[in-house]
Amino acid sequence: MNFIDQIVIPPSANHILLLRYIFIVSMLIFLPYLGMMMGASFISVYFNRKENKMLSRFAKDIIERLAITKNAELGLGIIPLFSILFIYAQLLYQANTITVSILSLSVILFIAAFISIYKYRSGFEIESVITSLKKSGTGENDEVTEFEEKLVRNSGASGKIGTTLLYIAAYLFVGSMALASSPERWPDVNNILQVLFSTATIFNFIFLLALAGTLTGAAVLFYFFKWPSFGTGKQGGLKGMDEEYSGFVKNFGIKLAFISSVALPVLMFFSFLFLPEGALSNDVFLFIILLIAAALILSNVLYMMYKNSETSYAVPVFFFVLVIFAFNIFKEESVLGNALQKQSYTVIQKSDEFEKEVKSKLVVSSGISGKEIYNTKCIACHRFDVKLVGPPYQETVPKYKGDVQKLADFVYSPTQNNPGYPPMPNQGLKKKEAVAVAKFLIDSVAAMQKK
Ligand code: HEC
Repeated sequence: MNFIDQIVIPPSANHILLLRYIFIVSMLIFLPYLGMMMGASFISVYFNRKENKMLSRFAKDIIERLAITKNAELGLGIIPLFSILFIYAQLLYQANTITVSILSLSVILFIAAFISIYKYRSGFEIESVITSLKKSGTGENDEVTEFEEKLVRNSGASGKIGTTLLYIAAYLFVGSMALASSPERWPDVNNILQVLFSTATIFNFIFLLALAGTLTGAAVLFYFFKWPSFGTGKQGGLKGMDEEYSGFVKNFGIKLAFISSVALPVLMFFSFLFLPEGALSNDVFLFIILLIAAALILSNVLYMMYKNSETSYAVPVFFFVLVIFAFNIFKEESVLGNALQKQSYTVIQKSDEFEKEVKSKLVVSSGISGKEIYNTKCIACHRFDVKLVGPPYQETVPKYKGDVQKLADFVYSPTQNNPGYPPMPNQGLKKKEAVAVAKFLIDSVAAMQKK
């Protein structure tokens, strides 16, 4: 059982449809952000060595550009992430699976990772302030040097910690998604190790790495050479790149995107083979084929860019990669929808029950007392346990199986139901009063049966 089950309510049929749309939107925001963060943080931490000026500049530039701003962390990262978590919690309401627990764990790790990575990122900003202080001569003293050393050490550590946490979180994230789409595995998978070492998890993670690599490469080209003035005819991109640096960045971006994009169709094909039977449908086929086709086109374009060593297609390539992400998300969503058909049916039933309960509670708060009505209008002919003019409630009320509305309908306009009794005269109650007394009878009989 999951603690989140206690804060979500089972969704109704319409609500499930809405959830699926919100899922798509949240994933469209979150997954590209995650991909860029995975690429940027890993590459930045890897290249962040003081000895090589060019590489350490790349380490700084890539994290500053691709991790966008601190607000992005909230808007593109944490908010959609929570919405994804709550969507899963609702779709898997009271399902016997550890999926939602693992997803919750990954959300916590993501948050810790994002915080560390942004700390690492802001370390570069402070460092550049120190550097300019030093240049102007005011910063040339031991205190500043000491502070700088400490800063470099600390932010280096948060970079490594953040990146590690991010990859673990992403691993759990894809693992829980794979599990969500295989209900047949739910009863057997009851500890996290089974999720960690499942082939589905490993496979989905490799696919995510390929997606992240493609997007990161494309984003490097986009943010270093085009952003923010693409389309205006002006030269966009990063200022102050010398020939050597811009050549290195270009080569790196194109190569990373190309190699990763080549892996996509192959991986997609294998992931198709792994899909559980219950998850297949025409939609799923369609999106897989679209994804494979798009990835092939993309890798051709990238290969051309590589041969000509040019960045002119950086903008369309970047957006094309986002389209590939979208295909993948549509596919994931269809897989999930197919796999959860049975589960959704159960959830919808629970939702109906829940709604009934809420409605009957509302009746009580309408201010009409069912007990009072019973004492004034019914007690003359009815007791709970013995037969008077009418049959005892303990015999007749359980027939209604808790359906307040149905019992209220009888009280509102009685019909002949029990042989051996005269028909019950209409008591002239208002509809609301009939509901209130019906609720009172059902609750009282239920309480007596419990004893
Ligand atoms: C004048 C006597 C009389 C009064 C007053 C009366 N009832 Fe009845 N009630 C009967 C009789 C007789 C029957 C059996 C009728 C039948 O089932 O055909 C009956 C049957 C019922 C049943 C059984 C229905 C079923 O489907 O088996 C319920 C429940 C009930 N009454 C509720 C109430 C409530 C609530 C009130 C007060 C608002 C009330 N009655 C007032 C005489 C009365």
